[in-house]
Amino acid sequence: MAGSGKNHLRSESENIILKVEDLVVEFPSSKKDFVHAVSNISFDLETGETLGIVGESGCGKSSTAKAIIQLPKPKSGSVLFKGTELMNLAKEELRKIRPKLQMIYQDPISSLNPRRNVFEIVNEGSKIWGDLGQETSALIESVGLDPDEARTKKPHEYSGGQCQRISIARALALNPQILICDEPVSALDVSVQARIINLLEDMKSQFGLTVIFISHDLSVVKNISDRVSVMYLGKMCEIGDSDLIYEKPAHPYTRVLLAAIPDPENMHSGTVDLLEGELPSAINPPSGCRFRTRCPRAEAICEKEEPVLVQIGNEDHWVACHFPHIDIELDALTSEKGEPIDRITEDEILWPPAD
Ligand SMILES: Nc1ncnc2c1ncn2[C@@H]1O[C@H](COP(=O)(O)OP(=O)(O)OP(=O)(O)O)[C@@H](O)[C@H]1O
Ligand code: SF4
Ligand SMILES: [Mg+2]
Repeated sequence: MAGSGKNHLRSESENIILKVEDLVVEFPSSKKDFVHAVSNISFDLETGETLGIVGESGCGKSSTAKAIIQLPKPKSGSVLFKGTELMNLAKEELRKIRPKLQMIYQDPISSLNPRRNVFEIVNEGSKIWGDLGQETSALIESVGLDPDEARTKKPHEYSGGQCQRISIARALALNPQILICDEPVSALDVSVQARIINLLEDMKSQFGLTVIFISHDLSVVKNISDRVSVMYLGKMCEIGDSDLIYEKPAHPYTRVLLAAIPDPENMHSGTVDLLEGELPSAINPPSGCRFRTRCPRAEAICEKEEPVLVQIGNEDHWVACHFPHIDIELDALTSEKGEPIDRITEDEILWPPAD
């Protein structure tokens, strides 16, 4: 299955804080149909790492994030946080563990209580959970806001960027170990985006956080992530070291996303045609590879057989595609069983592009 396969999980690492396996999220859409929002994806996070998750609107990024914190509980799969299986926890046990896994929601303004002042909102966590070691005024100050003003103002009196900072402060007040940021900067203009990203990086080192950073914009994710995972229609297409993904994108979809970044120095612009058409319906996704209906390289096998994530060379770079863009001289593919894959022939080398 495209995006399935688990060879990319780092089972030998002792530093794994979160391991997600075979995650499935479905929503009922009618009496007998389901939206297949997330279909069998697996990934892990090392302590202190930032994983970027990218993909176009509707590919399942938020559903993945919410499934990790079990809001709502996913249909199936495993979410292992520091060795504890969250899928098996009863409500009360889950409630106790939640402060450690904090999420900044996609729409910060609507996630902030409009009736409370901002100081109360940030302070709320310590009221519920007792002193978690974070001083509210200092936290508000650390995200660049005035604590005295925060005692009198409500969320609607702040700008979008400021509300994003309030959400960050509120999450950090609970002293989390993992911070999930769902499109934290998409609604903001570029200068505010940069400020929020810098703030997140400062907070990350100051609080020793592990971060999942979600965005539809690869250029934003690039600056903050150690590893990047690319999603398409509920599947994972490519995952690995963020520099490798940016320098040698192997999945046709990743290449389209990179080519679309509006930057005059973008080395990928013009290398591929931009995507046309809408994301297919997640109720009845295409068979085989879910990207095949929009992929310029699709062949008969792509309809029949879903590709699994396989390793490129010996690097931290994994792709789920029957015909990835790789340099076969340098980057042999290894199957899930550790055997070399020889499906790609010399005339199919597409990285670097032939012309
Ligand atoms: N509560 C819900 N009920 C029904 N369908 C849902 C629900 N939440 C999400 N979906 C559907 O699940 C799929 C994945 O949605 P999701 O919100 O996870 O995507 P996303 O990648 O976060 O998109 P965006 O970039 O727009 O935020 C979409 O088809 C969406 O319409
Ligand atoms: S070449 Fe085939 S497997 Fe690869 S992305 Fe295109 S359709 Fe999917
Ligand atoms: Mg979303």
